[in-house]
Amino acid sequence: MADNFCIPNGKTGQTVLVTGGAGYIGSHTCVKLLEAGKEIVVIDNLSNSRRNSIERIKEITGKDFTFYCDDLRDRAALRRIFRSHSISGVIHFAGWKAADESVALPLKYYDNNIVSAVSLLNAMAEHQVKNLVFSSSAAVYGIPHKVPIAEDFPLQPISPYGSTKLMIENILQDLHQADPYWNFVILRYFNPAGAHPSGLIGEDPIGIPSNLVPYITGVAVGRFEKLRVYGSDYPTKDGTCVRDYIHVDDLAEGHLAALAHLEKNRGFSVFNLGTGIGYSVMEVIGAFSKAAGKEIPYEITGRRAGDIPVCYANPYKAGIELLWKAQKGLDQMCRDSWNWQKKNPAGYG
Ligand code: NAD
Ligand code: WQD
Repeated sequence: MADNFCIPNGKTGQTVLVTGGAGYIGSHTCVKLLEAGKEIVVIDNLSNSRRNSIERIKEITGKDFTFYCDDLRDRAALRRIFRSHSISGVIHFAGWKAADESVALPLKYYDNNIVSAVSLLNAMAEHQVKNLVFSSSAAVYGIPHKVPIAEDFPLQPISPYGSTKLMIENILQDLHQADPYWNFVILRYFNPAGAHPSGLIGEDPIGIPSNLVPYITGVAVGRFEKLRVYGSDYPTKDGTCVRDYIHVDDLAEGHLAALAHLEKNRGFSVFNLGTGIGYSVMEVIGAFSKAAGKEIPYEITGRRAGDIPVCYANPYKAGIELLWKAQKGLDQMCRDSWNWQKKNPAGYG
């Protein structure tokens, strides 16, 4: 099998366009793509990331690539990018991702996530680029009727953020139905954590983190006084919520597997990317304390609105069809998150 995509109109190319490549998961995926010998081009408007991450990707890999600081909703900018590079496929990470914020500011999410996706797909259609890997989320499942969650479970998002992911999935399905030359792999990530082992790239959300692991690292580095544990009265092993934390490097590998899958199996497919193992908030605090060699001060507070008691993946389908399996466990995620945070107490700033 050739290492490049062959696009039906005869156009061939090897460059992968990575949207949101300066962000947390995007930057780790760019490293893996470059290490695998792929050519990449990155577009990111740096609304939730910093330019330093682009420099760090180049430092880790010793490879160069073109970075465009543009907004995906800028159709003229997209046109320029597609005209300037021989793009064969796209990995679409860019978008807003805070479920709780999306409840307060739904329009912000519908505008950025949906309009960006439609703008990107229009540019791809214009340039006959019809291969896309899309970053979806476990948020599309909402409250599962049972666990582990398989891809064919009901899709009932409970936040506008989750709705944007499901709407984009539906747009992709409609496109594929209208024109089978469109090829899509949808990846539904569970809870990403960890960082590149070099400590050069990692998670650096702008503002106060709403996710558990970056908040814990913020406490460990002295940025926050203590962690608030949202609820200890859930029907779980210790009363705190259970999630499927997955190392960001494993996720990044999942994108390489998705690209390989696109080359061999044209069509529309959906995969969960998770470990299949659920850990409680208290277990994460314990694992992180061990990794960092220090206690993490915390207090138990009331539940956070919209939290799901237990959520973890059935990753069987990705194992069989993508030949992908998460390799790194919770202890490694905590060690790598801590390594990143202690080397970069102020993140990229
Ligand atoms: P991130 O915020 O670190 O990265 C997203 C990047 O997209 C940022 O660099 C941001 O500047 C950029 N961006 C946003 N809107 C843009 C626009 N209109 N034009 C150009 N660039 C834009 O987030 P992440 O954690 O790396 O997540 C990547 C993707 O994975 C997102 O689509 C997110 O919804 C999805 N996802 C994330 C998680 C998670 O918990 N991190 C879980 C499931 C799914
Ligand atoms: C994990 C657990 C909290 C912070 C979110 C999005 C989801 C997906 C992943 C994008 C929960 C608890 C957290 C804190 C805490 N993102 N917690 N104190 O809620 O599973 O999912 O990120 O697609 O769509 O909703 O992740 O990291 O916010 O929370 O006790 O300060 O940690 O209650 O049980 P969540 P999270």
